[in-house]
Amino acid sequence: MNDPQWTAVDDYLVQQLLPPDAVLDAALKASGEAGLPPISVTPSQGKLLMLLAQMVNARSILEIGTLAGYSTIWLARGLAWGGEIITLELEPKHADVAKANFARAGLSDVIDLRLGSAADILPTLANEDAGPFDLIFIDADKMNVPTYFTCAMKLSRPGSVIIVDNVVRAGAVVDAESQDASVQGIRRFLEMVAAEPRASATAIQTVGSKGYDGFVIIRVL
Ligand code: SAH
Ligand code: DHB
Ligand code: MG
Repeated sequence: MNDPQWTAVDDYLVQQLLPPDAVLDAALKASGEAGLPPISVTPSQGKLLMLLAQMVNARSILEIGTLAGYSTIWLARGLAWGGEIITLELEPKHADVAKANFARAGLSDVIDLRLGSAADILPTLANEDAGPFDLIFIDADKMNVPTYFTCAMKLSRPGSVIIVDNVVRAGAVVDAESQDASVQGIRRFLEMVAAEPRASATAIQTVGSKGYDGFVIIRVL
């Protein structure tokens, strides 16, 4: 599902509200040239992530799913002075592209990229006394979002913000019988949120240059 009008309006809004940005453009270009999938957040969504980080004065951010680091750069720009972001990525090739993008952005010293499976790395973060994080962005494999949410709650404090990408999937999320493991992962995650007394949550459907999808935004109580 991808309406040309959504893209036209998105392009117009970006033109009005987001100044041209050579670093972010170069990051997307490098991603495409390396053959990575074009599934980074859109510019408007990336700026939303930066603004949310700034609104909560984030000094520590955790991202699950780096890809080429496009969303990471937006989040890193939202960090308060002295802040740091840890980002987790499974694929070495994605991590290499991301590291080059971080260097070009001048952000290598505030971004800590950990290579490996997020489900393996997340428990080690708790042990090494990382966190609680001010903001956590979950954007890796959707099948494992329930696991990532459980870990995110453990790495949170009251007031932490957890954002989960791709919770609508062009509307597929409403299909209880879906055979798609991603859809089932998101549905199970939503049930967990509903049953979690420490989570105050909403979901926002989005349309734009990347089609029809949405975010869940949670404030930890
Ligand atoms: N946040 C990025 C997009 C991430 S795409 C942006 O908006 O710019 C999802 C990423 O999650 C891919 O790079 C994929 O390799 C990674 N991923 C998939 N499964 C993973 C896992 N088990 N652990 C860590 N990363 C994973
Ligand atoms: C996919 C993953 C994403 O993080 C996204 O924003 C869009 C699509 C995917 O795996 O298809
Ligand atoms: Mg995503």
